[in-house]
Amino acid sequence: MTGPEGPRGRSRDEVYDDLLRFQAELSFDLEVPFFRLSPKWGTASNVLDLGAGNCYYTRLLAQRFPDKRFVAVEPDGTLTARAAAWIRPYHIDVVSGTVADLPREILFDFVLARHVLSYVDDLEELLDWFAYHTAEDAGLLVLDADDGAFATQPRLPLLERGNEEFKAQVDARGGDRGVIDRVIPLMATRGFAHLWTRQLAVHSDIRDRKYLMLMFMTSVAELDHGSPLPATLRIELDQWSRDPKSFLQYGIVAASFRRITKA
Ligand SMILES: C[S@@+](CC[C@H](N)C(=O)[O-])C[C@H]1O[C@@H](n2cnc3c(N)ncnc32)[C@H](O)[C@@H]1O
Repeated sequence: MTGPEGPRGRSRDEVYDDLLRFQAELSFDLEVPFFRLSPKWGTASNVLDLGAGNCYYTRLLAQRFPDKRFVAVEPDGTLTARAAAWIRPYHIDVVSGTVADLPREILFDFVLARHVLSYVDDLEELLDWFAYHTAEDAGLLVLDADDGAFATQPRLPLLERGNEEFKAQVDARGGDRGVIDRVIPLMATRGFAHLWTRQLAVHSDIRDRKYLMLMFMTSVAELDHGSPLPATLRIELDQWSRDPKSFLQYGIVAASFRRITKA
């Protein structure tokens, strides 16, 4: 937004809320087949959305699959406060905290972990929790970034530098961007069969995606470089959006599991 004193800055919370919303809108319909291909999804009625952020993605799921009830767990109180705007009138209960804050006897028949396992401090403890709090035959779907599929035309040096810094921050927190490869053997020892792993590329040439991609990239850039964006970045993104030959692609990797033994 531009006023007499130039573009108005947004708070980090506003920017992050938008980032999660644009990211969900960009991929949701392309990710729905991953749910449909997960054996338990069709009959699951009690779904945990782990690390649900602002619950925008949970809301898209609840809209598309009104037969299910969702428990959205999110430790960041700023995001759960924002979730209030998205969850009504859907079947979504939001828990501000971690799985440790859920009732001791709770049992889910499906768990979704979307873009979250690489942020979790104690991954093995969390996977143990899944084993104890899922019904026999429960499904687990893990969705995460596939950095190998990232591509832009032309290159966006300023935006990409921010991305590299973000990855370094995740690594410094003990995170792991290739988390799915790590999770597969860990789930096997907890009684979950790994059913399949699939990849998906989200490309700005897909209908209606280029504008959303620009909005998403602007939010990523504002998180990395501050809001309002420095003019150099605004110019970089503006040129990208006007160039008919430009594109951006990012990758998603999905892994599906089924609980085959009792904990
Ligand atoms: C990139 S966001 C993904 C949000 C949402 N799943 C989505 O796809 O839009 C990752 C979220 O995981 C949350 N998170 C980090 N550690 C967690 C933990 N131990 N348990 C639950 N959520 C966690 C963060 O607070 C953050 O909101």
